[in-house]
Amino acid sequence: MAEKRNKREKKVGAKALRPFGTSIFTEMTSLANAYHAINLSQGFPDFDGPEAVKAKAAEAIMAGPNQYAPSIGIPELRHAVARKMMRFHGLAVDADEEITITSGATEGLCATLLGLLDPGDEVILMEPCFDTYAPISALAGATIRYVSLIPPDFSLPREELLRAFSPRTKAIILNTPHNPTGRVFSMEELSFVASLCERYDAYAISDEVYEHLVYAGRKHVTLLSVPGLRERSFVISSTGKTLSMTGWKQGWVIAAPELSRAVRTSHQHIIFCGQSALQKAVAFGIDSSDHYYTQLLEDYTRRGQWLCNALQELGFRVYLPEGAYYILVDITPLGFDDDLAFCRMLPEKAGVAAIPCSAFWNNGKRIRTLVRFCFCKKDETLQEGIRRLRKWLETG
Ligand SMILES: Cc1ncc(COP(=O)(O)O)c(C=O)c1O
Repeated sequence: MAEKRNKREKKVGAKALRPFGTSIFTEMTSLANAYHAINLSQGFPDFDGPEAVKAKAAEAIMAGPNQYAPSIGIPELRHAVARKMMRFHGLAVDADEEITITSGATEGLCATLLGLLDPGDEVILMEPCFDTYAPISALAGATIRYVSLIPPDFSLPREELLRAFSPRTKAIILNTPHNPTGRVFSMEELSFVASLCERYDAYAISDEVYEHLVYAGRKHVTLLSVPGLRERSFVISSTGKTLSMTGWKQGWVIAAPELSRAVRTSHQHIIFCGQSALQKAVAFGIDSSDHYYTQLLEDYTRRGQWLCNALQELGFRVYLPEGAYYILVDITPLGFDDDLAFCRMLPEKAGVAAIPCSAFWNNGKRIRTLVRFCFCKKDETLQEGIRRLRKWLETG
């Protein structure tokens, strides 16, 4: 019966999307809910962002108007994003010509890829990567060339990149700070990418949603600040992670005017515009004090260090993150060799959910022993997760 249904579903779905199926985040969060597990899988906090930002949203809804926003986003929010780029990166960005407000980074990526790519164009993806890049590129009709970030250091695969770039390359998609490896790419690494983009007249699309979560004194380098990339990059970000309200889906794309026009053309036919009241609230939130941003980083530094130590003590091989809010572990030292089977078993057996990293790979180099735990949770949630894992590992 189920087999029959699957066959029918496959026939109906768009051909380009057939290889991709249901998102791993949906699967693991459903398992976590079914078994009342501590959900260290999908990257959303179990706490809300600032009360004052929530109050602004409520106020904006009550005051109205609750009608369509301008397609490119309300001016207050575009100007707040421009101020933020100056404040954190010293970069001047034109709020009217270069910023487009989207429904989260996900729609920003979608609008960028659908607005930029033609069937047959090549797009380079660095795996493991966030699970949205490949399906949207495929939907745009692009051919995907995969290069791999390899443990233990997940450094930029220069040789592979040299081989992957060609005159057919239209764009490369980067993500820094990187989910799931926690890498924060250096100016030197990004300059290497810039040199290839210049050589092949390609664009760089950069997903920077974790831009404020960078540890151990490292610095986030936005692609817009890399020499050679200011005019050929699309920088995508959102407030989900920074304001700890992933459900609000408020994001943006920053790109040179001509590039922004391509994004805006597709954005208007995907959602036309985002949610006006929430745009007002996040405009206020982005202007938060330095104290807010410092405290956010301090809290995540503490949680990340605590979880790394705890997972190490349990016997996992831990890859220390430089940024974002995930920890990648190798399950081999504990006698497991299949991340998907491990993560499907974990909610029921241990009462904890995590993400199998093979879901972030599409090419042949898929590594099957890496599992991702997130630390965007209250201290007590992380402690309970570790208590459960320890109990399960000790008693089986
Ligand atoms: C790398 C990366 N990009 C984009 C997103 C989604 O961002 P948004 O919720 O703003 O669409 C996530 C969410 O986990 C992510 O990890």
